[in-house]
Amino acid sequence: GGVQGNSSGRPLVIAHRGASAEQPEHTLAAYTTAFEAGVDGVECDVRLTADHHLVCVHDRRANRTSDGTGVISTLELARLKELDWASWKTLDDGSSTEQADRDPERGRLLTLRRLLDALTDQRQELLTLIETKHPTRWGGLVERQLVQVLREFGLTTGDLPGLPHVRVMSFSLMALKRMQGLAPQVPLVYLIDHAAPRLSFDGSLPKGIDIVGLDMRIVRRNPAAVEAHRRRGHTVYVWTVNTPEDVERCVEAGVDALISDRPRDVLAQLGGD
Ligand code: G3P
Ligand code: CA
Repeated sequence: GGVQGNSSGRPLVIAHRGASAEQPEHTLAAYTTAFEAGVDGVECDVRLTADHHLVCVHDRRANRTSDGTGVISTLELARLKELDWASWKTLDDGSSTEQADRDPERGRLLTLRRLLDALTDQRQELLTLIETKHPTRWGGLVERQLVQVLREFGLTTGDLPGLPHVRVMSFSLMALKRMQGLAPQVPLVYLIDHAAPRLSFDGSLPKGIDIVGLDMRIVRRNPAAVEAHRRRGHTVYVWTVNTPEDVERCVEAGVDALISDRPRDVLAQLGGD
């Protein structure tokens, strides 16, 4: 199995897209805020740019989380770097554009390399969940680029002390199998959406995959799904766990790691260390 909770018996707390309730998701500030809050790990989504760089962006398009528009995979890295990736959130929070403009660094695009730099600087075994998006396109280019970047950071050989503990996640078994072929030592997480066929909720996983990432809606509907997975030897992560009630449900169900937009609140509820 993979990571089984932390040493004090509480589930691990993972910052979803960084501390994304407090800071603009997938910005460096979202991750440094998560580190300061004392998280056990972080989650990020990665997409390919038109010139094949991996950037940390959730949506297919730039529209929601930047001041630009367009499909990420049709835009070059240089163009994406010109955009402001923070002001949308600042404005959501009721502050002014001028305030957002004062610190352009805040709005800088986060590349996977820059995130891994920040993570390795922490010199801790932070659980690092990297979700590959658009799994059915480019015949595995996303996975090849990801493995290349991970290799640069020495992160394809399995968990090492003082370095991030990387797990690659996908809703697509095909994408996970491609990843397995390229970097067999990197543990994989099969993500299961609440709308997935019921049978797969506690079903067996392909050889070499023993971590599931369950939609919180599955746990609400059927908390026993967690135990069913654990009986099969699976480690269970749950996303996105944002309320005290959901945190409680996950603790009672025996979840190994909670992926939350509000990791600071979750840590406070769980009583720290
Ligand atoms: O951690 C898994 C979760 O992030 C999957 O859903 O849409 O937030 O990427 P999404
Ligand atoms: Ca994700």
